[in-house]
Amino acid sequence: MVETNSRYFYMVITQKRQTKIIPIAGGKGGVGKTELCANLGVRLGQLGYRTIVIDLDLGGSNLHSALGIKNKNPGVGNYLSDRKLSFESLLTPTPYPDVLFIPGDVLVAGTPNVAFAQKRSILRNIESLEADYVLLDLGSGASNNVVDFFLISNSGILVSSPHVGAIVNAYSFMKNAVFRFLQRAFSGETKVERFLRKQIKERRPGNPVKVAAVIDAMREIDEAEADKAQRFIDLLQPNLVLNLVRGIDDLTIAESLRDLVDKNLGVDLQALGILLYDEEISAMYRARHPVVSEDADRLVSVQIDRLAQKIVQSPEFPTLALATEMYADSYELMGIEAQNDLAVHAERTQTTDARNYADAEEFIEVLSAQKKQIKELQGTIRNLTIRRG
Ligand SMILES: Nc1ncnc2c1ncn2[C@@H]1O[C@H](COP(=O)(O)OP(=O)(O)O)[C@@H](O)[C@H]1O
Ligand SMILES: [Mg+2]
Repeated sequence: MVETNSRYFYMVITQKRQTKIIPIAGGKGGVGKTELCANLGVRLGQLGYRTIVIDLDLGGSNLHSALGIKNKNPGVGNYLSDRKLSFESLLTPTPYPDVLFIPGDVLVAGTPNVAFAQKRSILRNIESLEADYVLLDLGSGASNNVVDFFLISNSGILVSSPHVGAIVNAYSFMKNAVFRFLQRAFSGETKVERFLRKQIKERRPGNPVKVAAVIDAMREIDEAEADKAQRFIDLLQPNLVLNLVRGIDDLTIAESLRDLVDKNLGVDLQALGILLYDEEISAMYRARHPVVSEDADRLVSVQIDRLAQKIVQSPEFPTLALATEMYADSYELMGIEAQNDLAVHAERTQTTDARNYADAEEFIEVLSAQKKQIKELQGTIRNLTIRRG
């Protein structure tokens, strides 16, 4: 018995530790990337996973506020401008168990466009951090600055709200990511690279270049390279988090995004889950505490936990896609979860409404009782006045 235990222990300590890096992007600002990064990070920490959250939204760093931390420590911006600073020295403690934080560039005036060599240095440093999970809060937009960080993993998280503008931005982001991915994969292989660069240059609004067509055209140049490109594309399996959901109809637009990404980019965008619109989140934001640390029973905290569970139960994620053996279709599952959550939400709101209604009735009773008293009082005063007159 003892022997089995010690062998087990031995296995655990010699197991190769793998840091899982999950970039969180979204194209559009205000869709909840930072909020998701803070809450998912705190939740993974609560579950006992050593987690590091990194603010890579250079120029718009605000992960510290979502975490409720004053930004006094040097961050990625300082690392970029001070060559003597080690990346590890940026690790900052947080009030949350098992969560460390690397700030962005709030302390540095205007981070310049980050050169590829600098990005590579940041990425290499991130890869060697000691942690179970590293979450990257990325900036908005679909520039190479953001896309290059997103492509550190095959299965990053794409956040969108159900609004047309956000969905279009999410699509543009994925499109840039796919072409950048191909371009990077074939850099140095001149003929194919030149061809790809030409294809990317020729992309114009209203004239979408389909990835399948590009690979077909590549096949004319070099069959083996085209197969390689297809294998690269197949590796990309990003995950969608639909935030700010208010009704079940909101999920339809997510399915349209999945269809468009599939049709034009040949990429399988899985659904990781939804987060309901919760006005308390903006209030929590001001109070400077992630909702999962403040109120674990809140519906949105339960939803964050669900995302965390899907992640930790997928041992190969994010190198490979999420483990989805348990269900056939991630969108169908997301639909079921949304139906359930919206029903719970409606029930809770109704109880609150009922409570408010009951409170209001009591209030009216008090008021009318007072009104009666006031009337009596006024009557008495009138009587007294008349008598005196
Ligand atoms: N599910 C939600 N319900 C309500 N407000 C939210 C939700 N998610 C994010 N917010 C709020 O929306 C604003 C933008 O969120 P943020 O995470 O900063 O977006 P991004 O990082 O994508 O720009 C913040 O004020 C945040 O508190
Ligand atoms: Mg943000």
